[in-house]
Amino acid sequence: MYRMSRQPLISKKEIDERLDTLAEELRSENFDIVVSTLLGGFIFTADICRRIAKPELKVAFIKASSYGDGTESSGKVKISGLESLNIAGKNILVIDDILDTGNTMLGITNALRDMGPNKVKTCVLLNKQARRTADIRTDFVGFEVENKFIVGCGLDYAGDYRTLPEIWTLEEADG
Ligand code: IMP
Ligand code: MG
Repeated sequence: MYRMSRQPLISKKEIDERLDTLAEELRSENFDIVVSTLLGGFIFTADICRRIAKPELKVAFIKASSYGDGTESSGKVKISGLESLNIAGKNILVIDDILDTGNTMLGITNALRDMGPNKVKTCVLLNKQARRTADIRTDFVGFEVENKFIVGCGLDYAGDYRTLPEIWTLEEADG
């Protein structure tokens, strides 16, 4: 059994303020297309894109899932939605909720780079550096987080908690 931490790890106000400055950095980069990762990335993507707020900025969604037993990702990533992307020669920003082992983001960026874009950069709301096994660094990060299970702001546990506007940790509850 899990329960939410008593206090949010990161409050709505802190998230809003950080996203304001992050979006300003992203604005100066001239991205053509945001490629957003479902499901976890959808809230962060919406929050960031409306702050970047450029008329020419396009958004596309892909879905990534890692093969494996469900608790530990196996290093192989299945990506759907690539066939409808037209990214040749374009500047791409990949957005996801969290960089954990890094397998998902590595799989996505490798697949996109095979499609002939001009540039691929990555942005995640959260970076759990302690868990990294894949050889990948992200270009833009909202917050560094400790090695705890995080929910809220798009991140879920078995589908729950995803819509909470703050970032919470899950803790093991007795009984
Ligand atoms: P990675 O491939 O290990 O980097 O895993 C990335 C994916 O695992 C993320 O896109 C999330 O969907 C999920 N994930 C990793 N850590 C957490 C967490 O703390 N809470 C919720 N989902 C997580
Ligand atoms: Mg995900």
